[in-house]
Amino acid sequence: MKSFEELRKEIENFQIENADALEAFRLQFLSKKSEIQSMFNEIRNIPPEERKQFGQLINEIKDFANKRFDEFKSTYDNRANAQSAVADITRPDTNVSLGAMHPISIMMDQVRRIFEDIGFSTVTGPDIEDDWHVFTALNFAEEHPARDMQDTFFIELHPDILLRTHTSSLQVRTMEAQQPPIRVICPGRVFRNEAITSRAHCIFHQVEGLYIAENVSFADMKQTLLYFSQRMFGPDVKIRLRPSYFPFTEPSAEMDISCYICGGEGCNLCKHTGWVEILGCGMVDPNVLENCGIDSKKYSGFAFGLGIERMTMLKYKTNDIRLYFENDVRFLEQFKSATK
Ligand code: PHE
Repeated sequence: MKSFEELRKEIENFQIENADALEAFRLQFLSKKSEIQSMFNEIRNIPPEERKQFGQLINEIKDFANKRFDEFKSTYDNRANAQSAVADITRPDTNVSLGAMHPISIMMDQVRRIFEDIGFSTVTGPDIEDDWHVFTALNFAEEHPARDMQDTFFIELHPDILLRTHTSSLQVRTMEAQQPPIRVICPGRVFRNEAITSRAHCIFHQVEGLYIAENVSFADMKQTLLYFSQRMFGPDVKIRLRPSYFPFTEPSAEMDISCYICGGEGCNLCKHTGWVEILGCGMVDPNVLENCGIDSKKYSGFAFGLGIERMTMLKYKTNDIRLYFENDVRFLEQFKSATK
């Protein structure tokens, strides 16, 4: 049997680094089968006159072991808590999935990449604009009904400040800042005062494009948009232009692509017409060029604008624009594989 002194030293020197060591300590000194317990069992072999003192000594040792155990336990618990607080930051939880890009971002990137491949650069700018950049410079006369088609959100105290209704405002900013040749695309969020339905929203995204140089023709525009459509929807896609009206382009057109689902035969997506509208376009009105300090006798160009939600709905065959803003993870997760 160990002496009291040896036992005391052992208890004192016992190093507790982790939960296993703490348990080992408990088994060795405090459990029913511990050394201290077996000393209690020795009492009956001790001469009666020494028993009292012997008993006292074991009790002291036992108290000492209990005290050490409690100290170790509380330091260990504190350390474990501190460690797990740190581990939360550094260790990935097994249940956290990586997530995916939002379908709107995926589509914006795809459109951008196609135009960047043919020499367009990307410009971005403010969502909060002034009347000049959104309307006046773009040839919207002051009381012209075309403004109603793009009603937006104004600030009562400063009616000149508004949320942009299209990213054409960035085309104005670009033309004001540089002389041709200009080849830019303008992706961004836009706003319109519209009731929210499955097909319209007061917030959506556009990519608009602008190409100004000498001798740019309607045929250049057609070819550029055909190239874009075939890269986006497949090499067999055809385009058609229908006359339209925008204050800032003359002539103006809406562009349809042949339905890439039915190949033009007629289906639900194209409402049995064989064609699906995807963008507006036209030759930049000379007034707009002059408003922005560009010589309209020397330069000409084309512009186009497409709605990203609409393109995304067409490409991924979803029928409710609100899905793109609700951010229901069950919907968004379906685009994981499209991120690459
Ligand atoms: N800015 C137009 C719109 O938002 C789209 C467009 C851009 C049309 C350029 C023609 C040329 O509706």
